[in-house]
Amino acid sequence: MNTVKAIYPGSFDPVTNGHVDLIARGSKIFDHLVVAILRNSHKNPLFTVAERVEMLTEAVAGFGNVSIATFDGLLVDFARQEQAHALLRGIRAISDYEYELQMALMNRRLSPELETIFLMPDAKYSFVSSRLVKEVFELGGSVEGLVPEFVIERLKQHGIGNAGS
Ligand code: PNS
Repeated sequence: MNTVKAIYPGSFDPVTNGHVDLIARGSKIFDHLVVAILRNSHKNPLFTVAERVEMLTEAVAGFGNVSIATFDGLLVDFARQEQAHALLRGIRAISDYEYELQMALMNRRLSPELETIFLMPDAKYSFVSSRLVKEVFELGGSVEGLVPEFVIERLKQHGIGNAGS
């Protein structure tokens, strides 16, 4: 029987409940889902790759068909190496669409056999991003319910923010 493997790539700096929601949806559709953290991002990450792997590993512990990986270089090369059939990306709002469309079409040009599949997270996460979570926490606001509890602990360990709950 053919099995379908997908890659869910991103920075995950840190993983949010929106990401976890998407992973849950993807894990129901695909036989195997690899959550892949980009190692050499141009963005200046708050969390090390090792920390992000640890947080994601904890976040996906309940899903039997989800694994965590890291990658460098072109996403399509990593997908080929993994023998994946699809890329999974989330679209929260129309503002995500342009960037996602550009990436999907570029990836299609680079690897025509690899399909990008978009899923929408639950509407309650449509405004949640890793960037905003970090900003709000740093400024002392609550991010309760937007990220897993252990991510809040990690944010506190980083010594940023003064509330975080
Ligand atoms: O969560 P992000 O930061 O929006 O994820 C962006 C990511 C990691 C999916 C994208 O930057 C990526 O795929 N980078 C790897 C390099 C690459 O393949 N670039 C061309 C993409 S069209």
